[in-house]
Amino acid sequence: MSVPSLSDKILAIRKANPANRMARHFDPDYFNGLSAADQARMARIVATGVANTDSSMGAYAMDPSDYNDFAPFFDALIRDFHGITGEISQPHDWDVSTKACDLGAIDGKLKDVSMRVRVARNVASFPLPGAMNRNQRVAFEDEAVLAFEKLIEHPEYGGQYLSITPGSKHEIDSAEYDRRVAAHQMFKDMSNDRFLNVAGISNDWPYGRGMYVSKAQDFLVWVGEEDHLRIMSMQKGGDLNALFGRLHAGLEILSKVLPPFAMSDKYGAVASCPTNLGAGMRASLHMKLPNLTKGGTDLEVVTAAATKYGLAVRGAGGEHSAAGSDGLVDISPSARLGVSEMEIMQRLYDGVAALWALEVAR
Ligand code: ARG
Repeated sequence: MSVPSLSDKILAIRKANPANRMARHFDPDYFNGLSAADQARMARIVATGVANTDSSMGAYAMDPSDYNDFAPFFDALIRDFHGITGEISQPHDWDVSTKACDLGAIDGKLKDVSMRVRVARNVASFPLPGAMNRNQRVAFEDEAVLAFEKLIEHPEYGGQYLSITPGSKHEIDSAEYDRRVAAHQMFKDMSNDRFLNVAGISNDWPYGRGMYVSKAQDFLVWVGEEDHLRIMSMQKGGDLNALFGRLHAGLEILSKVLPPFAMSDKYGAVASCPTNLGAGMRASLHMKLPNLTKGGTDLEVVTAAATKYGLAVRGAGGEHSAAGSDGLVDISPSARLGVSEMEIMQRLYDGVAALWALEVAR
């Protein structure tokens, strides 16, 4: 019996899993025209979507150069996911000062929502996490720690770095790690994530992984998750202006003390996953929508409504999680690429106002 080629396998996946974007855009003629070395690179990029046929994206870049070197493949995937047909470009605009930013002004009940906004950043001097070896993961963490030491000198940040790298001088014990995960500060154990496993992103767990947290616990940086860095601002209350302003200010400081980020003129901030290109930003709110979700049992109605406003809904426990029994869901604008930071904030504000109106009308 002959072994099916990679192309044959992917064409079979395309038939059985039409939602798998990697399979949808994989072109056997393009693949066959590549050098043997480039075919091997492509095989690693698509491996996660071959092993996990239910992927919605199904590909991870292993190096910032992949987006250029395999442009015919990636461009099609990126356009499909981000819904872009014309020219692609990434504007940056953090000025939210003229916009409505206070969710409390929509309804006093929205004053206590949990808000979080993060950006993905990768440095140009290391491969992306899928292709790093253990030494590189630890070496990158060491460079990041030097940057955090400078950030900590700013009194409005302060705080500390917590590592889960065995033997790190910043190492925390597993109880402390569990506490930080439960507090929604630290990322979960990646070693059981089937998408990340096949992509190599979770390799060498927990080496090179950790997080910086500010004194006020409202500014955090993950090291060694799906991207080199996930830089985030989180707080309770409805003031999106303060939330975004803190992220921007912290990002400005970090970009001066970290090695240069991998940025693309066309795609903005380079990310492992093509879904995160562009502003690289995910802005989200945890809010209770008990009526719209029938006490958290049904995400269908809220998802349909949210989609109209360009918002994605997931459970509050993160990607692939269910809604809480109190109707607690995570709402975030879907668009990442081709929209500025300010526009993302605006979409979140407008979308939340619309969903809240539906919730109270039920
Ligand atoms: N690799 C998964 C898929 O293709 C997740 C993609 C989006 N999520 C992410 N965390 N990058 O379905």
